[in-house]
Amino acid sequence: MSGIPEKIVEAVSYIRGSVDHLPQIGIILGSGLGNFAHEVTIEKEIPYTDIPHFPASSVTGHAGKLIFGRIEQKQVVVMAGRLHYYEGHTAAGVAFPIRVMKLLGIHTLLLSNAAGGVAPHLFVGDLMIITDHISLFTENPLVGRNEDAFGPRFPDMTEAYSKSLIEKAKSIAAELRIPLKEGVYFGVTGPSFETPAEYRMIKALGGDAVGMSTIQEVILATHAGLKVFGLSIITDLGLGEANNPITHKEVLAAAATAEPSMTALFKALVKAI
Ligand code: HPA
Repeated sequence: MSGIPEKIVEAVSYIRGSVDHLPQIGIILGSGLGNFAHEVTIEKEIPYTDIPHFPASSVTGHAGKLIFGRIEQKQVVVMAGRLHYYEGHTAAGVAFPIRVMKLLGIHTLLLSNAAGGVAPHLFVGDLMIITDHISLFTENPLVGRNEDAFGPRFPDMTEAYSKSLIEKAKSIAAELRIPLKEGVYFGVTGPSFETPAEYRMIKALGGDAVGMSTIQEVILATHAGLKVFGLSIITDLGLGEANNPITHKEVLAAAATAEPSMTALFKALVKAI
């Protein structure tokens, strides 16, 4: 693996030595959405802490392990527990698992997250396909020396969210009668939720939903040539609930309500890929 940073090589070698089947599809689950992992016919679970140099996850609702196995006969790796910038991980730390999964052989990355809705067409419990994102407020994970082995210095972002996967997801949802919204995901660092003025700004700038994850993973995945599909679960309304403070508990509860629909959609999408 020439040109690949040594720590990534060591992590990949460890995993290759521990699992029989290498994955084609990577899946990252958001806050309160970890039950999707039960859909996997598990071949091997590896706690992050066992993998050399792998950063550890610390948030309630995030387990912190890689799950290898099959969904609908496709080999997948599920990151049960994602790494957030607000936990103190550097942008490069958040990048680490994406690059590891790329080297294990995935060609597609599916992501879910919990997000606050700011667009008037979004309500708590909605599933929103991410059609694009705005990320000027989070650190770009590609800052620093370019890792030429993964991708170019200046990666194109005009189709960060695969149009063909979006079309597939929409036709699956129509078949399964799962209502789907679409919108632009606006990335913030967190961990504080936004002030009312910030929610208004996000809406004015073109965001439909706001969240504290996903952006850096998608930039890294795009850099590495992976196809990406992202889904937000709307867990609170930034602008619609002036006297209703937002809590992490509320986010987890709303995510749990929407999880069955997300699970059905992701399962069918994996099958169709
Ligand atoms: N803001 C930022 N991140 C979030 C929100 C929110 O309102 N809801 C869930 N994650």
